[in-house]
Amino acid sequence: APLDRIFSGIQPTGIPHLGNYLGALESWVNLQDRHSSVLYSIMDLHSITVPQDPTALRHSILDMTASLLACGIDPSRTVLFQQSHVPGHATLSWILGCRTSMPRLRHLPQWKMKSRQRNEGYVGLYTYPVLQAADILLYRSTHVPVGEDQVQHLKLARDAARIFNHHYGPFFPEPQALLSPTSKVKSLRDPAVKMSKSDPQRLATVLLTDSPEDVALKFRKAVTDFASEVTFDPEARPGVSNLVAIHAAVLGGTVEQAVAQARGLDTAQYKQVVADAVIERLRPVRDEILRLRREPGYLRSVLDEGSRRARELSAPVLRRVYQLVGF
Ligand code: ADP
Ligand code: NA
Repeated sequence: APLDRIFSGIQPTGIPHLGNYLGALESWVNLQDRHSSVLYSIMDLHSITVPQDPTALRHSILDMTASLLACGIDPSRTVLFQQSHVPGHATLSWILGCRTSMPRLRHLPQWKMKSRQRNEGYVGLYTYPVLQAADILLYRSTHVPVGEDQVQHLKLARDAARIFNHHYGPFFPEPQALLSPTSKVKSLRDPAVKMSKSDPQRLATVLLTDSPEDVALKFRKAVTDFASEVTFDPEARPGVSNLVAIHAAVLGGTVEQAVAQARGLDTAQYKQVVADAVIERLRPVRDEILRLRREPGYLRSVLDEGSRRARELSAPVLRRVYQLVGF
C-alpha cells in the first residue's frame, strides 16, 4: 500500500487568528509526529482570486510563514512551501479543469457566497476548487486535514481523482478528510458567525500576535447574555458556549471539564479565566512570531528550500500525468 501523505494549505492572510490556531494549525503540528510525509503550503495562488495588493501580499506570506514556524511546524520534517513557486499546481489545475463540468463548480457554496458578496465573478474565483484539487493530487496525497467548511471541496478533489483515473488509468489515490476535532471558533462580537480575519468588527477576532492586554479586552467585551451562570448550550446561549468551547480547546479538555472550572463564577469572571488561559497558551507563539518577523531572510530561505523540495516531489507525478494524457 502507498504510504500516507498529508497535504494541507492556508492562504497568506497575514497573522492567523485563534480560530485558525485551534481549528487547524494545532492539529497540523500534531500530524507531524504521526506521519512521515507531510506538506503544508502557503496558498498564494488562491489569495489573488479576490482584489489584492502586491506589497501587502509579500508581507502576509512572510507573516504566515513566521506564524506556522512559531506554532511548531518543523521545516526539517515537513515540507513548508509557497504554492506559486511550484509550477505544477497551475499546470495540473488546467488538466483537471478540462475534465470538470461547469455545473459541478456552480453549486459549490463558496462560489455562491463570494461571487454574490462581490457582485461579480472572476474566472479564478470560479475555478479555484479545481486548483485546490490539483494542490492535493499533485503530491498524490492520501489525507487532507480540513474544517467542515472544506469538505465539499475535498469531495471535488476526490471526484477529480476518480474522473482522471477513469479517463487515463488508475493513478491518483482518492484523498481522505482528516476532520478537525475542534468545532468552529465563533466571532467574539457575533457568535452566529465564525471568527474570521475578514470580520470588520473591532474586538471580534483574536490574532496570535495580540498583546495580553488586547486579548483581555477582547474577551471582556465578548458578547454573552443576561444569565450570569456559565453553561454550555450552543443553541440557546451561543456567546457563553463559544467561551466554553475556546476554554476547552485551550485546556485540551472537554466542554464539561471547562464548565466544571467555571463553577461558582459569573460570566464576567469567567471571561477573565478564559482570557488568561488563551494568553498563557499564545504567549510562546506570540513571542516567536515577533522574533521571526525580524528575520525575513531566514523566512525566505525556509520557503525557498521547502518549495525546492515540493518541486522535487511533484516533478515525477507531473511527468506521469503528461504521459497518461498523451503530452
Ligand atoms: P478565514 O476564514 O479567517 O479566512 P481560512 O478560511 O483561511 O480562515 O482558514 C484556514 C484554516 O483555519 C482552515 O482549515 C479553516 O477550517 C480554519 N478556520 C478558519 N476559521 C476558523 C474558525 N473560526 N474556527 C475554527 N477553524 C477555523
Ligand atoms: Na475563508
